[in-house]
Amino acid sequence: MSRFAHLLQPDQGQEARSIMLVSKSGLEDWLKSLPERARAAVLADRFTGAPGDYVILPGDRPGEWSAAFGTAPKPGIWDLAAAAKALPEGLYRLEQGSPGAAGLGWMLAHYRYDRFLSKTETVGDRILLTTEPGLIAEQARLAEATALVRDMVNCPAADLGPAEIQAAIEQMAADFDAHVAITRGDDLITGYPMIHAVGQAADRSRAPRLIELEWGNPANPRLAIVGKGVAFDTGGLNIKTGGFMRQMKKDMGGAAHAIALAKLVMEARLPVRLHLLVPAVENAIAATALRPGDILKSRKGTTVEIDNTDAEGRLILGDALAKAGEDNPDLILDFATLTGAARVALGPDLPAMFANHEDLAAGLIQASADVSDPCWRMPLWDRYDDMLKSDIADMVNSAEGGMAGCVTAALFLRRFVPEATPWAHFDTFAWRPTASAGRPKGGEAMGLRASFEMLKRRYPLD
Ligand code: BES
Ligand code: MN
Ligand code: ZN
Repeated sequence: MSRFAHLLQPDQGQEARSIMLVSKSGLEDWLKSLPERARAAVLADRFTGAPGDYVILPGDRPGEWSAAFGTAPKPGIWDLAAAAKALPEGLYRLEQGSPGAAGLGWMLAHYRYDRFLSKTETVGDRILLTTEPGLIAEQARLAEATALVRDMVNCPAADLGPAEIQAAIEQMAADFDAHVAITRGDDLITGYPMIHAVGQAADRSRAPRLIELEWGNPANPRLAIVGKGVAFDTGGLNIKTGGFMRQMKKDMGGAAHAIALAKLVMEARLPVRLHLLVPAVENAIAATALRPGDILKSRKGTTVEIDNTDAEGRLILGDALAKAGEDNPDLILDFATLTGAARVALGPDLPAMFANHEDLAAGLIQASADVSDPCWRMPLWDRYDDMLKSDIADMVNSAEGGMAGCVTAALFLRRFVPEATPWAHFDTFAWRPTASAGRPKGGEAMGLRASFEMLKRRYPLD
C-alpha cells in the first residue's frame, strides 16, 4: 500500500553500491583515505563536500562505482534527499552509519505529483539499506502523510471541491473504522451559520458542509483537530486580483494538514478520542454571495460584521472551533492558510504558530526542533483584540488598518475557543515556491511532523 516503505530496507549484507557522506571539514582526511584512482576522480570533479555537491568514484572491478555527497557537518533530514534524487535506480548502502532521520528525506525524494501528466518520466526506485529497520514503518507513515498533504494541495480546485474533501475523509474513516458525520443544508444554516454563509454562493454540487470524524475510545482524552477547507478562495465579492487568486486552490491546505495528522494519530493508535473537524466550502462569487456589511450570528451566539469577504477562513473556523470546544476537549489544534500576513512576516518556510498555553507552545517548539520541522511562535497579543471592534455588531471579521494581520486573525479565532482549553493554531503557507531536494515546488506539509511529535509525547502509548 505504502508508496514509500519499500524504499528503505533492512541491511542483510546484500550487494549494494556505497554512498559516502563527506563534509567540507572532513574532506581532506577523506581524500587521504581513498585509493589513488578514486582520489584523482574527486579532484578532477572539484568536489568540495559542500551540501548539494556530489561525485561518482570508480571502483576496482568493471561496473563498480560508488558515490560521495557533500553534507553539513551534522547531516540533517534532507541530506539524503539530494543523493536519492541524483542517483540512478538501484540498491545503496551508507558507508558509515545508518540513515537515521534522513531516511524520511530519502523517501520523499521519490515524491512526484504526476496525476495530470500524460507522459510520466519513470525513474526507478532507489533503495537504501538500513541497520535500523525499526525506523522504517514510522518514516513511511510520515512520508505518506506528507505526500497526502502535497497531493491534496496540488490538486486543482475543479477536482477537489468540498465533496472530494468529504470523500477523502470518508475513505480514511472506512480504513480506520472511524465514524463520520456530515452537516449540510438547513442543518448547516441553523447549526453553523458562518460556514454556510461563506459557502452559500457556490454551486449546489459544491455546497458547504462541516465534516466531522470521530475515532478511538471515548474514555480517552479528547483531541480536536480542525482544518480550514476552502476548496478555492476567490475572495468573494472582495475579489482577489489575478496574482493573488492564482494560488488559491491551496486554500484547503489546513484541511489537508488536519486530515494527515488525524491519519497519523490513528495509525499510531494514540490513546485519545479523536475529533477531526473540517469545514469545507468554496468562497465563490454569485448573486447569493455574502456581502461586506452583512452581519452573521455565529454558532457561539456572537455576531460578526463582515468587513471583508476575503477574510472567510476565520469565519468557517470560528464555527468549527466553537463545536470542537463544546465537547470538553483536552486539546484543540487547528491548521489554516489563514493570512497573507503570516507569509509576509515569516516567509514560506515557517508556519506561524499561536498557542494560548505556555507549556503547549513550548512542547510544540521543542518537538519542531527535534524533528526538523520548523515553526515559529507568534503572539496572541491581547491589546490588539480591540482592533476587532465593530460599531454595530460584537466584532468585525477583519481588523482595520491591516497591522499584525496574522495576529488579529488568530485573536479572532481565540474568541471561539473556550478560554481554559489548550489550543494551538498554525497559520501555514502550505506551499513551497521553489524546489530543493525532497521538497519540490508546490503543496507542502509544514508543522505536521512537529505536531505529531508533540502529540506522541503528550499522549504516550501506555
Ligand atoms: N486564503 C487567504 C490567505 C492567504 C493568502 C494565504 C495568500 C496564503 C497566501 C485568506 O482567506 C485571505 O484572503 N486573507 C486575507 C485577510 C484579509 C482580507 C484581512 C489576507 O491575508 O489578505
Ligand atoms: Mn480569503
Ligand atoms: Zn482563504
